[in-house]
Amino acid sequence: MWDALWIDIDIATCATPGAYGRIEDAAIGVKDGRIAWIGPRGELPGPVEKLAAVLHQGEQNWVTPALIDCHTHLVYGGQRAGEFEKRLSGVSYADISRAGGGIRATVASTRAASEAELLRSALRRLAPLIAEGVTVVEIKSGYGLDLDTELKMLRVARAIEREAPVEVITTFLGAHAVPPEFEGDADGYIDFVCDEVLPGAVEQGLVDQVDAFCETIAFSPEQVERVYEAAKLFNLPVKLHAEQLSDTGGAELAAAYGALSADHLEYLSPAGVRAMAGAGTVAVLLPGAFYMLGETQAPPVARLRDAGVPIALATDSNPGSSPVTSLLTTMNMGCVLFGLTPVEALAGVTRNAARALGLGDRRGTLEVGKAADFVIWDIEEPAELAYRVGFNPCVDVIRAGVPTLV
Ligand code: NIG
Ligand code: FE
Repeated sequence: MWDALWIDIDIATCATPGAYGRIEDAAIGVKDGRIAWIGPRGELPGPVEKLAAVLHQGEQNWVTPALIDCHTHLVYGGQRAGEFEKRLSGVSYADISRAGGGIRATVASTRAASEAELLRSALRRLAPLIAEGVTVVEIKSGYGLDLDTELKMLRVARAIEREAPVEVITTFLGAHAVPPEFEGDADGYIDFVCDEVLPGAVEQGLVDQVDAFCETIAFSPEQVERVYEAAKLFNLPVKLHAEQLSDTGGAELAAAYGALSADHLEYLSPAGVRAMAGAGTVAVLLPGAFYMLGETQAPPVARLRDAGVPIALATDSNPGSSPVTSLLTTMNMGCVLFGLTPVEALAGVTRNAARALGLGDRRGTLEVGKAADFVIWDIEEPAELAYRVGFNPCVDVIRAGVPTLV
């Protein structure tokens, strides 16, 4: 006997690449937080009243896997609306960063913030994501850039998992920018990150994966490689902010280290695409940052698609380049700005987002044995999820087989 059974629903399983995986007039049986049965209602192995302790009727709504935001910087102090105003008057993101603003401005406010303040503001930004059906969120450090504040950020990320109905994957992003105390000594800062900050964070069980920002205004591929070597000592999976503003060969480096994902990728070269395809590295596209920075070069979606590189979408929620807290809007941007199809956009926040976090074996699709995390949507067609802007059709979020909203 199952714990619960859902009927009167249409399902997009996202289990097959390139398709919604539609099952109309479907049913899902749940046991111990996992999917025990899924298929057309007519094939259920008995009468619905006898199969499960609880029967839920879905009013012919659509069900998809719960959403996964696989790239965020949700924990930070302050905000940077002033820089937004500057950019609108013609100053570039890179110029603001070179003048000591940008990431460094948020570093100052994050260092100054208490742990309780960081937790409170991150939970406020998380709430709209949860309301849209997100049950897994990746959260990066990288606004501390010293031992205490990097640990503080990661502790807050872990605390979020206790405070909100989400699984949090933490990512160490010590190599995000050179902090003021290492001005002019990026190599010295990388030594500090590899020798002290990463080991300290790992020792406290705060790190699930390791990221870096490979860019002319951040770190070189050689410096990133040292961070990757340090991650390897702890058997931690790696990923990269790569080719956002220029092509530095970051994606090739990430692929050579078997990275779970390379993210941004506006300036990704054909060689980078081939390397990612060969390594099975997921392309995480971040249209919120592209949109907010008024970028004009879109990532090479057709090449990624032709090469069979899995494409994910994420908010990149951060105070500078992407103050975005809606994954549904991100899906719309992925379609309108980057030319993804609504099927690809949905896979990008479910199936491929799970892969980008190394969770593909237990999350991201609706299949027997996977987590019973799914969303019930009041829509007539799955394409509506990517089509509307500023409208949330989420009726309920089921987490480990338990309804959380209604
Ligand atoms: O993913 N690219 C680097 N990091 C962030 C931006 C951080 C910031 O501007 O505060 C990003 O876009
Ligand atoms: Fe980012």
